[in-house]
Amino acid sequence: MAHIHENDIDHVLLSEEQVAKRVEELGAQITADYQGEELLLVCILKGSVVFYADLMRSINLKTELDFMSASSYGSSANSSGVVRIKKDLSVDIAGRHVLIVEDILDTGNTLSCLMEVLKDRNPASIEICTLMDKPERRVKDLQAKYVGFTIPDAFVVGYGLDYNETYRNMPDIGVLKPEVYTK
Ligand code: IMP
Ligand code: MG
Repeated sequence: MAHIHENDIDHVLLSEEQVAKRVEELGAQITADYQGEELLLVCILKGSVVFYADLMRSINLKTELDFMSASSYGSSANSSGVVRIKKDLSVDIAGRHVLIVEDILDTGNTLSCLMEVLKDRNPASIEICTLMDKPERRVKDLQAKYVGFTIPDAFVVGYGLDYNETYRNMPDIGVLKPEVYTK
């Protein structure tokens, strides 16, 4: 991985090729599950943008796109239970089939709050597709219907995921060296 950030990466957890293959599989599964339906694909900014851009092109359905942004109070590596919506959807989701696209499901605080808010708007259905899942860290009773990779409890960056807004443009997903976020 000859990338500007490679010295901060302990090891590559998921290569660009591994991710691309799995994204194709997820797209095929979603295409089969929603056959005959229209899908509203919701990107949770900013971490999901790379996954979202790849996933949408592997879904062979009529889709509409929309974006949402939320932040949980707390340090950048640890979320809290308090979630604030920074940017809401621009369309009405009532009666629509909604698929939330997330980069990583960690404690579940962010998505469980968003799911509550969105369910109140009466979608026909609402599910989560997350690229990565860290089940060991979960504090909320929340499960994604579609999971790309179940990963151990480590802080990962790249393919959209950041630490302090850096590393999002790395093509692979890597485990950050602990000294980077403890210094
Ligand atoms: P949760 O609310 O604890 O589930 O946190 C979800 C959000 O925290 C994700 O959308 C990411 O933005 C961020 N996050 C959690 N784990 C990681 C990680 O390992 N690397 C980068 N961001 C992470
Ligand atoms: Mg983040």
